[in-house]
Amino acid sequence: MTGVRIGDRVFGPATFHGPTAGAAEYALMLAWARIPEGVTAEQAAALPMAAETAWRALDDLGVRPGELLLVHGAGTTVGEAAVRLALHRGIRVIATAGPTRAAALEEIGARVTAYGEGMAERVGARAEGRVDRALDTTPTGGRIDRADRPSPAGGSLPTLIELTGDPDRVLTVSDFAAAAELGVRITTEIRYDRMDEFARLAGEGILVVPVARTYSPGAAGAVSRSMVRPCSWLAWASSAFAWATLRLRCGMSSA
Ligand SMILES: NC(=O)c1ccc[n+]([C@@H]2O[C@H](COP(=O)([O-])OP(=O)(O)OC[C@H]3O[C@@H](n4cnc5c(N)ncnc54)[C@H](OP(=O)(O)O)[C@@H]3O)[C@@H](O)[C@H]2O)c1
Repeated sequence: MTGVRIGDRVFGPATFHGPTAGAAEYALMLAWARIPEGVTAEQAAALPMAAETAWRALDDLGVRPGELLLVHGAGTTVGEAAVRLALHRGIRVIATAGPTRAAALEEIGARVTAYGEGMAERVGARAEGRVDRALDTTPTGGRIDRADRPSPAGGSLPTLIELTGDPDRVLTVSDFAAAAELGVRITTEIRYDRMDEFARLAGEGILVVPVARTYSPGAAGAVSRSMVRPCSWLAWASSAFAWATLRLRCGMSSA
């Protein structure tokens, strides 16, 4: 391994399919980047999944600078990352969100409204015209995405189609069952070739993933009892997934 020394702070995605959901003292990381100045380890730990999913969803949706994008479910970590990245790309954003992140999303430049009943009318009024594309990032309630089961937070895709006028202009990261039925796009293939870009954007304060809670190694044991030797720290975003961020001295081996 080149470009990194013992003691450097790095972050990256860990596989989350095992019993510890990525929390471990040692990890072989296929993709990683340096944690930039001013970014805490906890913040860095929360970045990979939210940033990667949001980046990929925007790319796959094909939304362009100047277009009006609706991010539905922008109170999720993926949704907020999508709003931040879209605004940075020069895309105009309407976001639906509940109380958790509504004010923060307004502050960075999104036009925010609540999801739920009357959403189509509220979004339509804010759009002052047609919404060009819509991204659905609503939560699935912790279940693994399955094409044969509707998302518990789902049911909004028909509204997003109505607002954009075309199912091909809508992409969901979660409601795969409805997407298959309605001809809406989905994205599933994880691509971690942008870690340096995510680190740079985090260092510049453009990409920020709010960390709801952090766990000490002891407390993390309660979260995952099968964790054998926890790393010096572990952060969980409000995401269903955990990402271990490791100091090299914590045991990342060079190969
Ligand atoms: N396709 C992929 O490759 C991929 C990859 C990663 C994640 N995902 C999916 O992305 C989605 C978001 O994941 P996440 O970890 O970012 O979520 P999350 O952070 O756990 O979402 C929690 C937030 O969702 C909001 N919320 C709750 N109920 C809602 C509803 N009915 N409609 C809209 N928002 C609601 C709440 O905020 P407020 O109500 O206060 O706004 C809550 O704080 C999940 O469905 C996940 O499975 C897909």
